[in-house]
Amino acid sequence: MTPLDAPRRPGIDLAAPSDEPAGRTRFGVVGGRGTRLLAGPPRSQGREALADHDRRLPPLDLGWWSPTELRDEIRASGLLGRGGGQFPAATKLDVAAAAAGTPIVVVNATEGEPASRKDKTLLELRPHLVLDGADVVAAAVGAHEVVVYLHRSRGRSTAAVEEAIQQRRLGRPPGVRMRVVDAPGGYVTGETSAVVSFLDGAGALPRRTAVPAAVTGVGHRPTVVNNVETVAHLALVARYGARWFRESGSPQSPGSTLVTLAGAVGVPGAVAETLGPVTIGEILATVGGLDTPPRAVLLGGYAGTWIDGEVAWRTPLERHALRAAGASLGCGLIAVLGHDACGLAETARLLRWLAGQSAGQCGPCFLGLPALSAILDEVVAGTAGRRDLRRICDMAMSVRGRGACGHPTGSVGLLDSAIETFDPELRRHLRRQSCEAAPGKGYFPLPADYRVRA
Ligand SMILES: Cc1cc2nc3c(=O)[nH]c(=O)nc-3n(C[C@H](O)[C@H](O)[C@H](O)COP(=O)(O)O)c2cc1C
Ligand code: SF4
Repeated sequence: MTPLDAPRRPGIDLAAPSDEPAGRTRFGVVGGRGTRLLAGPPRSQGREALADHDRRLPPLDLGWWSPTELRDEIRASGLLGRGGGQFPAATKLDVAAAAAGTPIVVVNATEGEPASRKDKTLLELRPHLVLDGADVVAAAVGAHEVVVYLHRSRGRSTAAVEEAIQQRRLGRPPGVRMRVVDAPGGYVTGETSAVVSFLDGAGALPRRTAVPAAVTGVGHRPTVVNNVETVAHLALVARYGARWFRESGSPQSPGSTLVTLAGAVGVPGAVAETLGPVTIGEILATVGGLDTPPRAVLLGGYAGTWIDGEVAWRTPLERHALRAAGASLGCGLIAVLGHDACGLAETARLLRWLAGQSAGQCGPCFLGLPALSAILDEVVAGTAGRRDLRRICDMAMSVRGRGACGHPTGSVGLLDSAIETFDPELRRHLRRQSCEAAPGKGYFPLPADYRVRA
């Protein structure tokens, strides 16, 4: 018998947790009909209390599963991690469960992408869904301890999670120990090895490690680091099962997906949940308020991939299809560049920020990214020529794939895709012609305390 055929826990029917017939809704926002993670009260009602959460969803009866059965069900769901790397959730759990020592679970709630809001939305509005998911991960690997790794400066998220932990202490039988740990600021502090290093009492710096954290991480214990959205999905997989989970998404990338819109859209920071086949254009028209394709779309985060606006408009918003097109949905960011902005200037601005986020440990990253950023600044200023473009390409080659973490490779990917997508603008800049678009308009948000490294 496969997990998909396994008998369901009595009392729970397999209908979608909404009154919308499964499969009909293709996307929605907080409180929208047919949504899964975003289902429940509208945003205006704020965070959902434990009593309301318990009224809305069936109980999470983890005693019904053995850890192996739970991991089998998660494997059957096909859930891929939503932290950017799309790593199969079940594989990480299997590795941790098989490793020596008692595992520890870390909910990675740093959301270091400046424009991304999906994890904050879940933490602030559905904290119990996230904590239920952490309970599921703990049960699947036999952990007794959960750490929510979160910037305390994010006041609303912290308050919601701390209040939710307190409500569970008072309103639930004693279970897994949960605590919030104040993560340091910075883009790379959310990378798994940096998380482990910080929780071990050292700096939140990425480390090149031969052995994954799921085998040996915090205090040499098996450590499962999962993104907020990943664990929230698990809270529903454990209630409704793998078959239900797979009714949304695609066979290669099952389940719903949260996305954040940024830049030249009606409401920057809007979060939507995609459930069925939908193109980027449909999301931008319905949630983003656009009538026509923009100049370009940056997908997956600031170290993501630019796609021409016309192409993006008709491209399915589906992880597998995007990967086939050379892009990645990454953390789910869809950042929109209007026709009034210069994509090269915006890229130069983002690359300057990314260069400043290097942890300063690896030469190709610490030295290479600022050097690339400086040349791109010259291109944008109209003071660079064709020779400089060749220098960019040579230098990019020596940075790509180097360093202890994915930061330099992601940053170079942004640059590569900008050179391809903004070829007409690049030619104009290299001919020292003025750019018709507003230079460096600063469409995409950067952290307020951001300083360019001297
Ligand atoms: C530079 C860098 C920054 C990252 N920042 C985050 C982050 O802020 N939040 C997050 O969940 N994952 C982040 N990740 C991905 C994590 O390393 C890790 O893959 C993820 O938390 C695992 O969760 P998942 O398996 O649920 O996707 C980052 C990775 C890199 C290379
Ligand atoms: S590659 Fe860059 S960000 Fe990653 S560890 Fe090295 S210096 Fe730090």
